[in-house]
Amino acid sequence: MRVVYILGLFFLDHVQCVCFTMCLLFCRHSGRMALALSYKDIMESLRQRFDEIKDVFPVFEEIRSKHLLDTARSCAIIGCGYAEMELAFIEHCMPAMEMLTAVEPDADSVVELRARLAHQLPPTVKTAVFEDVAENWAAGTDRAFDVVIMFHCVSDIAEAERQPLFRRLFESVIQPNGLLIVTTRTARSDGTQSTESRIMEALNQRPYVDSKWYEDARRLISTVGFGVCFERRYSLNVNVENLDAAYFGFYARECDEPTSLEKVEQVVRSVIGDAKWSKKEFFFGVFRKPVLQS
Ligand SMILES: C[S@@+](CC[C@H](N)C(=O)[O-])C[C@H]1O[C@@H](n2cnc3c(N)ncnc32)[C@H](O)[C@@H]1O
Repeated sequence: MRVVYILGLFFLDHVQCVCFTMCLLFCRHSGRMALALSYKDIMESLRQRFDEIKDVFPVFEEIRSKHLLDTARSCAIIGCGYAEMELAFIEHCMPAMEMLTAVEPDADSVVELRARLAHQLPPTVKTAVFEDVAENWAAGTDRAFDVVIMFHCVSDIAEAERQPLFRRLFESVIQPNGLLIVTTRTARSDGTQSTESRIMEALNQRPYVDSKWYEDARRLISTVGFGVCFERRYSLNVNVENLDAAYFGFYARECDEPTSLEKVEQVVRSVIGDAKWSKKEFFFGVFRKPVLQS
């Protein structure tokens, strides 16, 4: 694209140059919209629809008051995007942090992640960023951490990769007595099905059971040897007015088959109707690796 642009500028006069530039910018923008939004675009837009840090804060407070992470010095944040929630958690609950490793495959998120780490962490904290998927990074790292954090990313990891990943975390990536922290969606306490599951059922034509998200992760984590240390449910309200491409892009990523944003939009609008708010519930789970492994 850059070469075409420079050649164009070389051969065209001033007015033609302006038109040419606008034309290229339009193609670039619309091509990007049509192809795929980055995970960063999607998360930035979604996070404007709710204030998760405010709603999960009582859980952070409880963890802090129980001193669960007071002595943790090293931490890996996996599938962290640009780490908005992870950094809020670290700042509130991990006062002794000295070394932070971040693992995130989305290139756009990694750019923002590096900037946030530089601005938000004290200069005494050493950082390393890996633009990679969790399963590759975990297989290759020879480091062991006091804490590994996986906020809202277990379901992004291919199902077949999850147990080997948790096993690797248990066997070598987390220190004895270290913690694995996971947040993921769960069933609504009033028994109604979540909007997300209703949308995904309509798109993929297969059943979605909200409780499975956390139950499955918890079962796999326990199977490889971690013990449950602390669990809390929290909820948040998502504003579903003025739906945009990022909102539809989130569901498009989850489709079993490639599906156009137009099709996703049609399904999403039919499920959401005139609603302005939708409630989501999550589990915050802290799992401990025992000191003595059986
Ligand atoms: C729903 S976002 C959550 C981001 C962040 N943790 C938060 O809570 O805002 C899921 C993240 O997982 C990342 N991801 C997708 N596949 C992954 C994989 N195989 N390993 C690690 N991260 C992955 C995505 O790029 C995305 O940033």
